[in-house]
Amino acid sequence: MSTFSPRVLSGMQPTGNLHLGNYLGAMLNWIRMQETHETLYCVVDLHAITQAVSVWGGPEVLRKAILDVTAAYIACGLDPRKSIIFNQSQVAEHAELAWVFNCVARLGWLDRMTQFKEKAGKDKERASVGLYDYPVLMAADILIYKATHVPVGEDQKQHLELTRDIAQKFNLDFAESIAAQGHGEAFFPITDPVIQGPATRVMSLRDGTKKMSKSDPSDLSRINLTDSADDIAKKIRKAKTDADGLPPEAAGLKGRPEAENLVGIYAALSGTSVDAVLAQFGGGQFSAFKNALADLAVLKLAPIAGEMNRLLADPGYVQGVLKDGSERARAIAQPVMRDVRKIMGFVVS
Ligand code: TYM
Repeated sequence: MSTFSPRVLSGMQPTGNLHLGNYLGAMLNWIRMQETHETLYCVVDLHAITQAVSVWGGPEVLRKAILDVTAAYIACGLDPRKSIIFNQSQVAEHAELAWVFNCVARLGWLDRMTQFKEKAGKDKERASVGLYDYPVLMAADILIYKATHVPVGEDQKQHLELTRDIAQKFNLDFAESIAAQGHGEAFFPITDPVIQGPATRVMSLRDGTKKMSKSDPSDLSRINLTDSADDIAKKIRKAKTDADGLPPEAAGLKGRPEAENLVGIYAALSGTSVDAVLAQFGGGQFSAFKNALADLAVLKLAPIAGEMNRLLADPGYVQGVLKDGSERARAIAQPVMRDVRKIMGFVVS
């Protein structure tokens, strides 16, 4: 059996602002894991260009978005001394390994990806090849570091299954060469998704059946990490709810997606569980719960925007974090890519 030492990698796209879904679904676990694991967190700028230029906004918008998201990472609590924080495009090995994985992954596997179907919409013929290939690059992001754990929200589960399939097929297809080169039975780990907490799928504040997302045309549907305290409170007070009060137990949330979403958000923000929240608020008025949630959200989230602005006032600092992080990331990625070339039979001089 090959063993892999624990290593964490995850990433977010620099397209628009980060929002509460990114924060509760992924970031809280990122912050937690930097205390216990070797962690790499990347700003996935190569993924940000997979849609039409009119969607991602062009070079100036991208440059700003990369710095904004990096500042958001640090403002949320990632510490550049504990985590390697970098942008994907500065480590060319991600794209190089993605090419090798393009030749490992099968069309049938990619045809099953639901996120491509959602993003490409009806006019699939006009979607970029990159949008289709997006999950293969994501597998390369993870496996170029032989990452064993990937903390993400629920919506990334299918992509992580593809990552496991790619690792497994590579290990099998090249088993002899992997062993001959002294890597034992497996070159890549079979990565575990880390999808944990009471808010792994945060829903729109306007419609509890839709995922909270950057692309929703209604700004009231999401809480951005750049929102002011007033906006955060207003969006929660305006959040859609049904006519009933809060139930005393989790089972009573069934079939009530808006109520379930708000209770999950409260539990995640307060670091407790859905049951604990209902023990406190169950049986009471929804309006009282919403007021408490608005206060809690302002307390936890409003300081992030302030800290982001402070960091962005010194772009040299933020760029320095990315430079240092990219160097450290390359130091891990380059030898792995060199091994891959040798395993595949490329002549390495
Ligand atoms: P992205 O940029 O769409 O989202 C970043 C992270 O936020 C989580 N997330 C949510 N969690 C709960 N509720 C929501 N409404 C919600 N919206 C977003 C996502 O699950 C994700 O964890 N493909 C990835 C980026 C990526 C990546 C990687 C992740 C590229 N390479 C390698 C992990 C490892 C994405 O588009 O995330």
